[in-house]
Amino acid sequence: MQPTVTLLGAIERDLAGAMRDRGFIVSDSDLNVAIASHVAGTKGPDVFVIDIRALSALPREIVSLRRHFPQSGIVIIAKALDPTSMLDAMRMGVSEWVAEPVVLDDLETAIRRMARPTLGAVAGRAIAVLGGKGGVGCTTVAVNLATALHRATREATLFVDLHTAHGDASVFLGVEPRFSVLDALENIHRLDASYMKGLVTPTKAGIDLLAAANRPQHGAIDALRVRALIEFVTTTYPWVVLDCARTDGTLMDALDATTTVLVVANQELATLRSASRLAASTRQRCGVQRVKLAINRYDTESEIGRKDVERVMGGAIAYTFPSDYRASVAAINKGEPLILQDHSRLAGAFEDVARDIAGLGPASRDAARSGGFFARLGGRR
Ligand SMILES: Nc1ncnc2c1ncn2[C@@H]1O[C@H](COP(=O)(O)OP(=O)(O)O)[C@@H](O)[C@H]1O
Ligand SMILES: [Mg+2]
Repeated sequence: MQPTVTLLGAIERDLAGAMRDRGFIVSDSDLNVAIASHVAGTKGPDVFVIDIRALSALPREIVSLRRHFPQSGIVIIAKALDPTSMLDAMRMGVSEWVAEPVVLDDLETAIRRMARPTLGAVAGRAIAVLGGKGGVGCTTVAVNLATALHRATREATLFVDLHTAHGDASVFLGVEPRFSVLDALENIHRLDASYMKGLVTPTKAGIDLLAAANRPQHGAIDALRVRALIEFVTTTYPWVVLDCARTDGTLMDALDATTTVLVVANQELATLRSASRLAASTRQRCGVQRVKLAINRYDTESEIGRKDVERVMGGAIAYTFPSDYRASVAAINKGEPLILQDHSRLAGAFEDVARDIAGLGPASRDAARSGGFFARLGGRR
């Protein structure tokens, strides 16, 4: 959804054009006209950007603007970061202030932060997906599970790519994030809901992404900070899915903050060996109840059968996902989780697991598929 922005004050054409280029629906107006138009019943834009560079002080009309458009955010463009005026603005309910020289990125971030209302505190659930080995399908499972959770529950869902470098969740979700999980971890002590909103990237799958960094990370990722991050994001998102590639145990401390740990394996000896070690250490850390095992690309004909896997892994297999290479690869190339476009068995399996984790009953897929026809037969209520 493109945020709507109304520019008030003497804003240069270039700046307005640049805002349009960055995906905002921009109009301009006069402060008093904007207030008066409320009387005619308009809802107001997502954000007002008020340029006060030509003024000697903050216009008092901001107070009425706030009152008339309580849902709209306000961003001020000013000559300087003047503490007295900024304090005044804060008292008027304005929290975003961009000073000269106006950096487009900063302005965009400020607008986006204001355009997205802060969610109330929730007790969200965090699901960590751990790959038994690279290539096992960890990201595929995590991305589809997150999207399926969002679709089944209609609740806000955050995907966190915990790869320190070269995480590929952004490719799976078809976005080019500007901020990353490193920005969140580096600012962990000043994280608040609006700051966090500025770091995540909305995706067409309906979930938000906190992406992996594409700059190198100095030193090891601090698991305690990751834990604090998980604790924080679950206060604003009912569902959080973490793509954890690391099997080396460095993230173990962070797993304390999760509700479910899904260890993904497949029917291959090398993977099973590392996945079984991973499952054992995770169980030790998080308790048997929280750790669930899944087999991806499950093959009923495989030499290594389900019972064998359970024996090696030291626990029951909770979920299996069938193999569907074509759908999996096509989805990555399209930048959309496969459950969005596909009615394959694999998509169905992801939906079922999401419903199970969310505590919803199984989907009545036949009814859903022929929904239009049967709904019409039965008539609308
Ligand atoms: N159920 C599946 N059936 C067939 N191919 C799959 C399946 N799950 C994943 N893949 C494919 O396996 C490859 C690795 O998947 P990916 O999710 O990137 O693994 P990981 O994150 O564990 O490295 C990708 O090409 C992906 O399309
Ligand atoms: Mg991956």
